[in-house]
Amino acid sequence: MGMMKEDVFYIRADRRRVLRSFLLGPGGLWVPGVMAEALTLTPRATEGPYYPDHLPLDQDNDLVQCTGREAAAMGTVASFGGRVLNADGKAMEGAVVELWQADNNGCYLHSKGVQRGKERDPMFQGFGKMETNQKGEYRFRTIMAGLYTGRTRHFHVAVVKDGKRLLTTQLFIEGEPQNERDGILKQMGTDEQRLSVIRPFEKVSGGDGALVATWDIVLGSTAEEPQERRGPAPRRPLER
Ligand SMILES: [Fe+2]
Repeated sequence: MGMMKEDVFYIRADRRRVLRSFLLGPGGLWVPGVMAEALTLTPRATEGPYYPDHLPLDQDNDLVQCTGREAAAMGTVASFGGRVLNADGKAMEGAVVELWQADNNGCYLHSKGVQRGKERDPMFQGFGKMETNQKGEYRFRTIMAGLYTGRTRHFHVAVVKDGKRLLTTQLFIEGEPQNERDGILKQMGTDEQRLSVIRPFEKVSGGDGALVATWDIVLGSTAEEPQERRGPAPRRPLER
């Protein structure tokens, strides 16, 4: 399994670049297959038990600062965004991207989402959403998802269009040692698909010090995510 893990999490990116160069045909023309690879479908993942059972008043795309509260959420400010695309690469306008995640203490905005011995950060919004613009773009300002027993750090994301849930997935942080042992991540699609949901969060020059990541969400042709395809039921008693 040791080699397998390295293969999935560390080597594939390099190999992918090599693969690209081989696929560049005579005269520098891209041969079929390159486009398909560029549009790796975002794999589905379980919703988990902590989709908020009570939504916050403030549901905007800034989870760090809640309307009417003076203090900011605890934790390392992180921002991620990108485009929501169809399988054919077309930007999807008017899709609602939802984010819910653990606060800096590992607690969710859910009546059962407080970890043992911890307290929920009252300044953290816990849930936010944003509608994509004409270019299919979305962005969130949040904190690095808190760590809690049994999981690596992760963000829960869903895409809704016209009131229908199209995709439920999770986003991961490159370099997190616990990615390798995360049972949910391991089940998410092909190697290529798993790589597509593990993104680098980095400081950008001239930025405000927040960690920034880009992440395009690519939807398959399935019009609506059936209930039973919201990912496998948690295999352990607690997905958390
Ligand atoms: Fe979770």
